[in-house]
Amino acid sequence: MRDPVYQTEALIAEDIDAYLETHQHKSMLRFITCGSVDDGKSTLIGRLLYDSKMIFEDQLAALESDSKKVGTQGGEIDFALLVDGLAAEREQGITIDVAYRFFNTEKRKFIVADCPGHEQYTRNMITGASTADLAVILIDARKGVLVQTRRHSYLCHLIGIRNIVLAVNKMDLVDYDQAVFDEIVKDYAAFAQSIGIESFTAMPISGFRGDNITALSANTPWYDGPTLVDHLETVEVLASVDLDRPFRMPVQWVNRPNLDFRGFSGLIATGSVKPGDEIRVLPSGKTSIVSRIVTLDGDLDEAVAGQSVTVCLTDEIDCSRGDVIAAAANPPEAADQFEATLVWLNDDPMVVGRAYWLKLGSQTVSVTVQQPKYAVNVNSMEHLAVKTLDLNAIGVAEIITDRPVVFEPYADNRALGGFILIDKLSNATVAAGMLHFSLRRAQNVHWQPTDLTREDHARMKNQTPKVLWFTGLSGAGKSTIANEVEKRLALMNRHTFLLDGDNVRHGLNKDLGFTEADRIENIRRVGEVAKLMADAGLIVLTAFISPFRAEREMVRNMLPEGEFVEIFVDTPLEVAEARDVKGLYKKARSGALKNFTGIDSPYEEPLTPEIRIDTGAMTIEEAADYVIRQLLPLK
Ligand code: ADX
Repeated sequence: MRDPVYQTEALIAEDIDAYLETHQHKSMLRFITCGSVDDGKSTLIGRLLYDSKMIFEDQLAALESDSKKVGTQGGEIDFALLVDGLAAEREQGITIDVAYRFFNTEKRKFIVADCPGHEQYTRNMITGASTADLAVILIDARKGVLVQTRRHSYLCHLIGIRNIVLAVNKMDLVDYDQAVFDEIVKDYAAFAQSIGIESFTAMPISGFRGDNITALSANTPWYDGPTLVDHLETVEVLASVDLDRPFRMPVQWVNRPNLDFRGFSGLIATGSVKPGDEIRVLPSGKTSIVSRIVTLDGDLDEAVAGQSVTVCLTDEIDCSRGDVIAAAANPPEAADQFEATLVWLNDDPMVVGRAYWLKLGSQTVSVTVQQPKYAVNVNSMEHLAVKTLDLNAIGVAEIITDRPVVFEPYADNRALGGFILIDKLSNATVAAGMLHFSLRRAQNVHWQPTDLTREDHARMKNQTPKVLWFTGLSGAGKSTIANEVEKRLALMNRHTFLLDGDNVRHGLNKDLGFTEADRIENIRRVGEVAKLMADAGLIVLTAFISPFRAEREMVRNMLPEGEFVEIFVDTPLEVAEARDVKGLYKKARSGALKNFTGIDSPYEEPLTPEIRIDTGAMTIEEAADYVIRQLLPLK
């Protein structure tokens, strides 16, 4: 058996320079370990750290007895004591975040992302996988290929990891039986093929006993492949691919400490750049020449993928955070409609048509997702027809952004093709996604600039446009109050228009019903119409239940600051139901009318409306006067 420690010590003693030299030029492998809950991940990582001298024998022994004590949770061990003071996450016996561990062997440096196996932590697994070159998929030999094995393998593949190690762990617990190993490999091979994994390296191991980790084990004489560490040390990493691609650098921030210096800082995603190179800034398309490449350690003659630098240009062209600097002759596209794979990571299912934030590199835009084309069943790889995506579902859908995004297909460029979706109200990351291709709508439809501006329109009407957005339950009194307010505005010589739910649903929105998705679309369209009318200089009044905060916020954000006035017509359900002007509450209670707001469909009250009307305390007239008073002075 070799003795890496002895060899290393000998080298240090003999030639410290040679030691440092080899150390500095060692390549780096980032990998992820994933699999199911109790497959022994942490014990395996402990073993790797131990064998590479990052932890010591007594600590490993403690780990191992610890893992024996806690039985099936034995894999989840607190490494905080052991590695560089790295905090390990330990909550209810489960590692809950991604912990990155570092270790070295003679040949390579390693960063391993240790991700929890529980289904609810798929998001951590994705975080860990997004920067990994290789995935070790752990399988408990006693259990074989599980749903989580499939899910994680599929995600690793989607995320673009092309080196897969199938580590069949706990071989000691199946008496090192070759038949067990072969059966699992056969099973996995069939699955791998079905999802397009072209090859993988399978090895029988025991993280606990150390079989086939650094040395081939006498317990598995039938196995003639590499040890895990041999494989990790020698597997080829495809980093050169990023270097061969055209230059792209998403701008993280603009560096302007004084008037003499202006540089654009970011991490080079692909390719390389030199002073003198012609570049193009996207999405504007403006070109310039690189004058300097600045780093903390001085200027560079060349910078390559993976380096963080500040690029200076010869011209003062517009370029800001979120833009992408690219090779002038070979720039990426910008588009606003895409097909994408989404992995849903939130307890609340995806809402079709709702606006989320999409964050792609340093770009953040508003996005809506269409009904998925399909979701993938990770057991059978079947495509399922679905209306939405639930927690951990993986699906393919079209997405539409509110302005062009500079992108490349994820398969070509992880940095410009991978994104996350964020809920606008809660700020939670709700999905991870990968762009496939653009649907090229953006290239053919251009915004038509007009000579008369919205300011011109407003000036001619001698007023400031507004959107008075009445919201509240059915029967709350929205339409009636809005109508009274409009009459008063007319008497004040204001130019107005009232959009009313029941009326708009007879024409523009007659194709829409009352499902969540239809209501969202209803409000989106009404919001767009209200905005056009405000652009025309009008004071627009709308009377829609508009039950969801997210869509009311969406309309607010479509308009200039201060133009959207949310008016909450606050009538308790009992009161609206008792009035039941249209007899609809009765129908809803009897079950004849489904999805009725307040009965079996939610109403999310405004938290901070500009105006709240307590209809119990005011007559219609008083309410209308109150609204007008709140709006004054109406310039
Ligand atoms: S919204 O929820 O999409 O904003 P909108 O204001 O356009 O609703 O339409 C509400 C009106 O449609 C109600 O005043 C009522 O007359 C009628 N309606 C019919 N079915 C329903 C339902 N299931 N829920 C609420 N309102 C309904």
